[in-house]
Amino acid sequence: MSHMPPAPAPAPAPALSLLRQPGQIVMGAGQRHALPSLLPESAGVIFVCTDTRMSAEDDFRRIVWGLQESGRTVRVFDQVPTELPVGAVIDAVMDRAGERVDLVMGVGGGSCLDFAKVAALLLTHGGKPQDYYGEFAVPGPTIPVVAVPTTAGTGSEATPVAVLSDPDRDMKVGISSPFLIPALAVCDPELTYGAPPALTASVGADALSHLVESFTAIVRPATATLATERVFVGKGALTDAYGLLGLAAIGRSFRVAVTSEDPVARADMAIAALAGGLALGTAGTAAAHALQYPIGTATHTAHGMGVGCLLPYVMEFNRSARVTEFAAIARTLGDDGSAFDDEELSYRAVDLVADLLADVGVPTDLAALGMEPGRERWIAEQAFQAKRLVDNNPRALDVDALELIAGAAQRGERSLLRV
Ligand SMILES: NC(=O)c1ccc[n+]([C@@H]2O[C@H](COP(=O)([O-])OP(=O)(O)OC[C@H]3O[C@@H](n4cnc5c(N)ncnc54)[C@H](O)[C@@H]3O)[C@@H](O)[C@H]2O)c1
Repeated sequence: MSHMPPAPAPAPAPALSLLRQPGQIVMGAGQRHALPSLLPESAGVIFVCTDTRMSAEDDFRRIVWGLQESGRTVRVFDQVPTELPVGAVIDAVMDRAGERVDLVMGVGGGSCLDFAKVAALLLTHGGKPQDYYGEFAVPGPTIPVVAVPTTAGTGSEATPVAVLSDPDRDMKVGISSPFLIPALAVCDPELTYGAPPALTASVGADALSHLVESFTAIVRPATATLATERVFVGKGALTDAYGLLGLAAIGRSFRVAVTSEDPVARADMAIAALAGGLALGTAGTAAAHALQYPIGTATHTAHGMGVGCLLPYVMEFNRSARVTEFAAIARTLGDDGSAFDDEELSYRAVDLVADLLADVGVPTDLAALGMEPGRERWIAEQAFQAKRLVDNNPRALDVDALELIAGAAQRGERSLLRV
């Protein structure tokens, strides 16, 4: 009998490194003034989508005036509602029927940017938003979209998704397609200066959740079809780079940005939001986002407050599956370096994120968010339907696991999830 050494275990397949991003990104204080020169000459008629708050701002009037001064026709729609009910987009687009539109510009928070994406989609391909729900249902390129964010949070300026609420469904729905990525993102941190502390905290928590969830997402083997089968393919080297870029900015500046208009802190938060969008737009997010959808519906709380509240619990659940990444998160957020090894650092990452979110005023448990107890099973069942997000989680999730996370978050007891 020969004594052959056991065959070495096959090396794990390398992850796909994919990045889908806007054609051009311009980031920096005052860059809104560059808009007229950044747009193509062919953009003679511009449809600008914003909300009533923004349309009353001098900054907005100057943007419109600058575009008009450069010889363009500007049509403004300033009734974008938050949370984006589907009917609102259909009505706005029907009002434009037959008109020439060369470019759609969203100016505002994630709601305005997503509105612009869906308006461009319907103006180009017709139909209703419902025709395009899910992944890869958009048949081709749309009228170009320019995204000008005024919140540092969603990262929608760089993502291939628009999120809507549909009265026929309990949860928010997404249209996900690389064709929805804005052609140009102009990120001017000065546009976020007017945001009150609670809004800065909520949208910053959203950005932090994007960064953590995409940096710790599932790794999928790099098959020849992955990039065309899924819009969100899991983590890879390219999205990881954006994850760490954004986490470093958040570690430096989140607390300062919530309490002041400090230009360096605001610029950092704009970078963090954009980096979160670039990371999530390819890697995708996971359990915190799946769980937030039903909780947001039940509590009518801001998306960022919900994902921020859930994030430390989801991290506690996922920690054992992503020790190396969690250790990197702790180092990037500014851990003092005294930890013995990556295992110890990975626990610290959860504490650092939880402390940061609590410091900026994000509710630390679901009760504080307004969720009544006893609905954890319902939350889990609803969250489980967000298959794309559930499948992207680094630890396998079923309804029982989601209920466990929701239960710990309801009671504010992260230790229930510790392994
Ligand atoms: N497409 C994506 O990739 C993506 C990612 C995450 C979230 N979202 C979606 O984005 C939406 C949330 O976007 P949001 O969090 O940016 O908020 P928002 O766009 O819904 O705006 C919230 C409120 O903040 C106000 N606001 C915006 N900028 C301001 C400023 N500078 N100063 C003062 N007030 C300001 C708005 O007028 C509004 O009243 C949700 O519908 C969410 O589902 C989309």
